[in-house]
Amino acid sequence: MHLNFQDRVAVVTGGGSGVGREITRLFCEAGATTIVADLVLEKAEETARILSGLPGKTIAMKADITKYAEVKEMIAEAVKISGKVDILVNNAGFGVLKNFNETTPDDWMADFGVNLFGVLHCTREIINHMIERKYGKVINIVSDAGRVGQAYQATYSAAKAAVMGFSKALAREVGTHGININCVSLGATKTPLIMPFITPEIEQRLIKAYPLRRLGLPQEPAALVIFLASDSAAWITGQVYSVNGGFSMI
Ligand SMILES: NC(=O)c1ccc[n+]([C@@H]2O[C@H](COP(=O)([O-])OP(=O)(O)OC[C@H]3O[C@@H](n4cnc5c(N)ncnc54)[C@H](O)[C@@H]3O)[C@@H](O)[C@H]2O)c1
Repeated sequence: MHLNFQDRVAVVTGGGSGVGREITRLFCEAGATTIVADLVLEKAEETARILSGLPGKTIAMKADITKYAEVKEMIAEAVKISGKVDILVNNAGFGVLKNFNETTPDDWMADFGVNLFGVLHCTREIINHMIERKYGKVINIVSDAGRVGQAYQATYSAAKAAVMGFSKALAREVGTHGININCVSLGATKTPLIMPFITPEIEQRLIKAYPLRRLGLPQEPAALVIFLASDSAAWITGQVYSVNGGFSMI
């Protein structure tokens, strides 16, 4: 297994919390330099502070991935500081929770802005750099909502499904340049995104849909992300893998 990231540089969007923070932790443990890009700089800085004792270096940056200009600046800064970017983890995201018949175009833009356009902005900005270097790993964090559909999250489900289609298409385009594009799909995972809504009663109800009878922990999808970012996964591209306690089996 090649899980040594000593000379690797990764960008993790939404690295200031939840799954993104755990992905950053694993990169750091394996020696990578990680750019932690988050909408909220203080959260990115907190990740960098928490992980400061580990072998890898973390660099906190502010970037709202819904804004292409901010993404361009963040990627340019990352390349300037580190000389290159080997790995992009498009992790930042959230979902509007509403009946579709009560949603507005602003809600749709919120879902598509971060979950789809954010992924397009970051990937578009880095892909030529990866093509030039004949090396790159892009891992997109999606949701089982996009695989099987989640009630009250129709446009979030649509945006995540779009990212899966995008990832497969791009994997076909850039495979000859030594670039792997894959998706990790999550079931309900205990992060600050969902925990404010999960009372013990709701948790007991939710876990009935999970054969392993519990919700996920953020380090669980993070472990798969690190594997997919490694050279041990060199022959894997265009795939979607769920880390979901068996919620969906596709
Ligand atoms: N937690 C779950 O149950 C669950 C389930 C399925 C999919 N996911 C997906 O996993 C990913 C990570 O979610 P999480 O649970 O760790 O959430 P989280 O809220 O703990 O972390 C998300 C981070 O993304 C950042 N962010 C939000 N909008 C941003 C923007 N426009 N630009 C840059 N950063 C932004 C937030 O500030 C936050 O730090 C998301 O893509 C989410 O859709 C999560």
